[in-house]
Amino acid sequence: MLPFAMARARLIPALVAHGGAGAAGPASERFERRRAMLAAVRAGAAILRSGGSALDAVVATVTALEDHPLFNAGYGSILNSEGRVEMDASVMESVPAAPESVGPGHILRAGAVAAVSRVRNPVQLARTVMERSPHILLAGAGAERFARTAGIRLCRPDEMITERARKKWQMRRDRMLATAAEAPARAAVGHGTVGAAAADLHGALAAATSTGGVPGKLFGRIGDSALIGAGTFANALGAASATGHGEAIILSSLCREAVTELAHRPAQRAVRGAITELADLTGAEAGIVLVDRRGRIAYAHNAASMEVAQFNPAGGIRHLRPAPILRASRP
Ligand code: GLY
Repeated sequence: MLPFAMARARLIPALVAHGGAGAAGPASERFERRRAMLAAVRAGAAILRSGGSALDAVVATVTALEDHPLFNAGYGSILNSEGRVEMDASVMESVPAAPESVGPGHILRAGAVAAVSRVRNPVQLARTVMERSPHILLAGAGAERFARTAGIRLCRPDEMITERARKKWQMRRDRMLATAAEAPARAAVGHGTVGAAAADLHGALAAATSTGGVPGKLFGRIGDSALIGAGTFANALGAASATGHGEAIILSSLCREAVTELAHRPAQRAVRGAITELADLTGAEAGIVLVDRRGRIAYAHNAASMEVAQFNPAGGIRHLRPAPILRASRP
C-alpha cells in the first residue's frame, strides 16, 4: 500500500546534484570540478534555506553547472558526430495541491527540450516550456523559436563550443578514422551530464537534468536527459535525475523506476535496485541521484566514477565520490 495515508512528517529541505557518471576524467580537473559542484549546490541550498522552491533550487544548481566549461552540459557540451553541439534538458516538479495534501494530492508538471544548439541554459528553456507552453517536450529549431518568443536570447551555435570540447572531438574523430570500428554512442560513456533533485520546506519535490549527450552521438540523437521518466522524474514520493548511457536509461525508465520504488523501499535501496536492474537489462553504465519526500538523499552508480554534491540541514554541504555498486557485465 502507498504510504500516502500517513500523517505529513516534518518537511526537511534537501538537495543533491551529480556531475555525470562515467570515466573518472583527468586528475588535473578534479579540484575545479569539485569546487564548481560545491558552488552550484551552495546556490541551490541558499534558495531552499530561505524558503524557496525545490524547482528554483534544482534549476539554479543545474544552471551553474551548465555555465561551467568542465561539465558536459550547456557551455562545455561535447560535440556530436558532425562537430556540433546539440543539448537536451528537462525539469519536473511535484507540488502539494493544498498546504496539507500528501500523495495523490500533488500536482505534477514537466518540461523538456531536445537537440537545441543556440540556448545558453537549456534547463531554463525546459522550465519555460513547462510554465509557458501547453507541451512537455520541444525539439531543435522549434524549441529555439519558442525560446525567442519567450524572451530567451539565442546565441550562435559556435558560442557554446569550448576549445576543450573541440579538441576532444578532434581526438575522437582521429581515433575513429584510425580504427573505423567504434559504434556511435555505444563507446565508453563520457563524464559530465549534470542534474539535481530537491525537496523544499513546503512539501514540493523537483528534479532537473541537462547534457550535451554521449560521445560520438549521431546528428539528431536525443537522449534520456530530455525524457521524463528516463533522465528526470518527480512525484509525491520523490524526485530523481540520471546520468550515464542514455539509451540504457531510456530502456529501463530509470528515474521513474527508482522513484516509484519509494512506495516499497527506503531511498538508498530504491536507487541501488534501479541501477542493478538497468545493468542486468542492458549491461550499460549509469548513475542516479534522488531525494525522497522526507528530504532523504540517495545515490548509486555502476560506472568508474560519479561525483555528487549534497545539502541538508543536518550535514550541510558536502562533495562525495561514491564507490560504484557493481560494474557493468557487458561492453
Ligand atoms: N545521459 C546522457 C545521454 O545519454 O545523453
